[in-house]
Amino acid sequence: MAARWVVPVAVALLALAVGLYLIPSPIDPEPYIFQGPPPLLEGPLAVNTRLQRGRRLFAGQLRGPESFTADQDGNIYTGTVDGKLWRIYQDTLTFITQMGQDIPECGSSMDYEPVCGRPHGVRLDSSGQLIVADSYFGLFRVDPQSGEKTLLLSSKQGCDGIPFGFLNGLELSRNGTIFFTDSSSRWGRRHVRYEVIETNHLGRLLAYEPQTGQVRTLLDSLYMPNGIALSPEEDFIMMSETSIGRIVRYWLKGPQAGTKEILMNNMPGYPDNIRLSDRGTFLVGITTTRFRGRIMPPFLDLIGPYPAVKRFITKLIPFSWYNMLLPKYGLVLELGPDGEVLDSLHDPNGTLTWAVSDVFQHGGQYYLGSTDLPFLPVLEHWS
Ligand SMILES: *[C@@H]1O[C@H](CO)[C@@H](O)[C@H](O)[C@H]1NC(C)=O
Ligand SMILES: *[C@@H]1O[C@H](CO)[C@@H](O)[C@H](O)[C@H]1NC(C)=O
Repeated sequence: MAARWVVPVAVALLALAVGLYLIPSPIDPEPYIFQGPPPLLEGPLAVNTRLQRGRRLFAGQLRGPESFTADQDGNIYTGTVDGKLWRIYQDTLTFITQMGQDIPECGSSMDYEPVCGRPHGVRLDSSGQLIVADSYFGLFRVDPQSGEKTLLLSSKQGCDGIPFGFLNGLELSRNGTIFFTDSSSRWGRRHVRYEVIETNHLGRLLAYEPQTGQVRTLLDSLYMPNGIALSPEEDFIMMSETSIGRIVRYWLKGPQAGTKEILMNNMPGYPDNIRLSDRGTFLVGITTTRFRGRIMPPFLDLIGPYPAVKRFITKLIPFSWYNMLLPKYGLVLELGPDGEVLDSLHDPNGTLTWAVSDVFQHGGQYYLGSTDLPFLPVLEHWS
């Protein structure tokens, strides 16, 4: 004999299922199948605690320093989650400017980013001016002393009739050309989790000429293109495609100019910025790790092939929960020019940091970026 509660519970579950089925999913995903399970953590990828040997600067003062650059005088520049640009000199922090409107709510919630701005890639040009990719507004030139901003190219204008949705990586060539990435024409920075789950390849690598104001698309249909780094001879660009854990090389010069090749696929994490070190290697910040599970494959590997499952999950899980579900594991990779892994530094429990967005070598130290953490981790040396 069925218990009295069976029917009401069944009806309630059915109503819930129908309700979930009927509410629209926020995303429109595509299937993506990884080439295989993530690589074993052995050889140069072996687990260690070398990324723990550092200190945290500006705790509570600097949140989400995403990208860095430095001038001849030892000043370091970075942008934070509240839309502000900063100059760092040793242990002092100086405010330069606000990319958007400076309202008290800036930094309190991602919902304010489209108003406050969010600087990502930062570099200095040959005349000592900052070039900044603001994720929402476009490319800017900023005077590092006065804080005066000049909009070079608005996201609204975009390129080839398609506005920019999520400006991200930036690199300057010696002749002044600004290379940059638009991670997605659909999702803005604050919806990066959706972008990663969708695997929709709506990103572009672009080049802007400040002399003429011309902008052109070098590559399109990219999977969340993110950090870029020019080779020392400027004959190629190394670029992360974050949402599928891949690094590609785009040739600027030589017989393969204008073509790309995959250098690293099926990575042990989702790559963010890539920086050239003074030893000619490429340093890659890993924003989220992708390791083999003892029982199950990584979650995104598991749901990757099934758009319906991805749609369903984004209905169920509130957007603000995604960050909490991610492991606090710090990982940075050192790659050779052909994408070979030379070394890796790990912080398996986030003692110093995790979710690394940038690895910037300066004056013998390494400044570790993040999109969200409320401090600036500095590694004393690479050892
Ligand atoms: C500047 O150099 C880059 C390669 O380093 C090249 O792609 C670009 O076309 C050059 N720009 C100009 C204006 O010559
Ligand atoms: C993290 O790992 C280090 C050893 O590398 C250990 O000393 C420390 O207690 C750990 N911290 C936590 C919170 O588990």
